[in-house]
Amino acid sequence: MSAVILDGKALGLRIEAHLAQRVATLKNSGVEPHLAVVLAGDDPASQVYVRNKQRACERCGIKSTRIDLPNDVSQEQLMRVVANLNSDESVHGILVQSPTPNGTDELAITETIDPSKDVDGFHPTNLGRLVMGQTDGLLPCTPAGIIQIIEDANIDLIGKKAVVIGRSRIVGMPLALLLAQKGIDATVTIAHSKTEDIEGICRTADLVVAAIGRAETIQTDWIKPGATVIDVGINRVVDDSRDSGSRLAGDVDPAVSEVAGHMTPVPGGVGPMTISMLMSNTVRAAEILLN
Ligand code: GUN
Repeated sequence: MSAVILDGKALGLRIEAHLAQRVATLKNSGVEPHLAVVLAGDDPASQVYVRNKQRACERCGIKSTRIDLPNDVSQEQLMRVVANLNSDESVHGILVQSPTPNGTDELAITETIDPSKDVDGFHPTNLGRLVMGQTDGLLPCTPAGIIQIIEDANIDLIGKKAVVIGRSRIVGMPLALLLAQKGIDATVTIAHSKTEDIEGICRTADLVVAAIGRAETIQTDWIKPGATVIDVGINRVVDDSRDSGSRLAGDVDPAVSEVAGHMTPVPGGVGPMTISMLMSNTVRAAEILLN
């Protein structure tokens, strides 16, 4: 058997085409959706991510402003930049690219962002709303994108077993809450580095989501035949057969596609959907302000 490949890139582009229509409606009402991205430091991966976010803004017709700050930016300077964006009425979404430089407190910066402009969905107010079952607000982008992929493929999780590997505040924890919410109704296990018999637990699952950040860790014999496998990993690994000397690898061994029923590719699966959900949150933030 060979898995149906869940094409996040194609789905993301479809979603963005709909968003472009909503952006046009907002502009007709005199509102130009506007995302401000703060990039502190010179992390090469962050440079690529931010460029991809700006390109998505262009596709949707969203205005984007990029604020570059040096690697030695102080906590106070970063907080001041966020405070200025909070009070700038032309800005609907604020994103501070992670990781922020050594010596800065990312959680404190997140808490400084106005929750109504928190398009990453990481502010305690927005995460708290999610815990309370209120899923109509600004949801964290990667978990929201995974739910969209599952829904678009008509994968029914009611009463089914889902295993989320990874317990980060950005992916694992909020995704577990979304999968367990009313309407999706999965029975969710959160597995992590201390979990005993993680392979055995995965083998019982109808859905496995891998968000651990270690290349090609999930093996074929971890997966129940026909299960859905979502790969959140983006790992750069050495590959001497390529001119660049490296390639991108997910957290899941590609051979898993021989047993899974559905599987996301890397690249082209969860990554593009994360960006499309950021666009969606920015449009939503602008619409909420208007209404
Ligand atoms: N760094 C890697 N992914 C993300 C993301 O989704 N949001 C932010 N702010 N930083 C990131």
